[in-house]
Amino acid sequence: MMELHGRRVVLGVTGGVAAYKAAELARLLVKADVEVNVVLTEAGAQFVGAATFQAITGRPVWQTLWDSRMDNAMAHIDLSRDADFILIAPATADFLAKLTHGLADDLLSTLCLARDCPLLVAPAMNRQMWQNPATQRNIMQLVNDGVSVLGPGIGEQACGETGAGRMLEATEILDDAIAFLQPKVMAGKRVLITAGPTFEAIDPVRGLTNPSSGKMGFALARACVEAGAQVTLIAGPVTLNTPRGATRIDVTSALQMRDAVMRAVDAADVFIGVAAVADYRPVENVAHKIKKSLVMSIDLIANPDILAEVAARPNAPFCVGFAAESQNLASYAEGKRVAKKLPLVVGNLVQDGLGGDQNAVTLFDENGAHSLPQGDKLEVAREIVKHLAVLAGK
Ligand code: C5P
Repeated sequence: MMELHGRRVVLGVTGGVAAYKAAELARLLVKADVEVNVVLTEAGAQFVGAATFQAITGRPVWQTLWDSRMDNAMAHIDLSRDADFILIAPATADFLAKLTHGLADDLLSTLCLARDCPLLVAPAMNRQMWQNPATQRNIMQLVNDGVSVLGPGIGEQACGETGAGRMLEATEILDDAIAFLQPKVMAGKRVLITAGPTFEAIDPVRGLTNPSSGKMGFALARACVEAGAQVTLIAGPVTLNTPRGATRIDVTSALQMRDAVMRAVDAADVFIGVAAVADYRPVENVAHKIKKSLVMSIDLIANPDILAEVAARPNAPFCVGFAAESQNLASYAEGKRVAKKLPLVVGNLVQDGLGGDQNAVTLFDENGAHSLPQGDKLEVAREIVKHLAVLAGK
């Protein structure tokens, strides 16, 4: 959570039942070393009291324009002056309408009107209120005005109905706030990513696969979304959640992965092959379970090299390959870069096997090798994206 360390945030809490999640959000922000100044509207205070936020943030909570604690009586200006952003969670339909029209009849709305920092809102309301053309008009206007809208989520609502309008969970809002702070180095780019292992069936109950977790490919998909790209993620069999904002296509075998890639590749500016594609598949996929015997032999045939095939296309997208090696990283990774005609290869030494949460990689491009510091896979993915954005932008 390095991105949030030392930041200053104004957390605006308006009057919706989702205000209880704002307390958790405040806690997560404080844990990430953020200075959180909570501004409660009158209705917000009906749901969660100021004492809760004060205890969580260790700071005064602001509720009125007429607060005498602010020396110059200008809380509506001073609170946002050094803030990195104002985050309103929950943002009710009423408060969004106020924002849209520039009303300033309480501390939070006045603060928003007088701000000189970005504004993020996490809507929270009943699904009918969300779908109402008035709310949709307001949201469109706010987006046009440069406000970032986080969510809303879809699901069960406090009123017992189900649909779009519920506030995102506190962890999702935190993720979105971090994403908001990422440089938009891939804005307008369309990125196609393969991730995870493939599974090559031997018979209905057996197959060939490998322990790739898909975590690195999914982290890259998330980092690309954060950087402003439109992302399609083609995933082998993995049990990971799809990064919000990415379009996911699930496949099982290398041949299915190849077909999915070839269908999508024309619409891609960048192709990142992270998948650990099985090098071979059984020649025959037997229809019935093979009976046990002391010795069994299976004939294997090489799978197509998806990445090499994409890189060899006329008008190929900018291609990035991965090389997981157990030794001689530099020579093997650079060898792959040249053999597959790739502008960029991400190499890593696999010492503890695949599937961990951390990674240490070296980037190989025509200018040589660049080692990135070890970090969790998302941090590493963000660094890879920054590097590839420079190369792909040329
Ligand atoms: O397996 P290998 O080390 O050659 O993988 C290097 C790169 O090529 C990886 O980015 C991998 O996703 C890609 N690849 C592929 N299709 C294959 C084998 C590898 O796209 N059949």
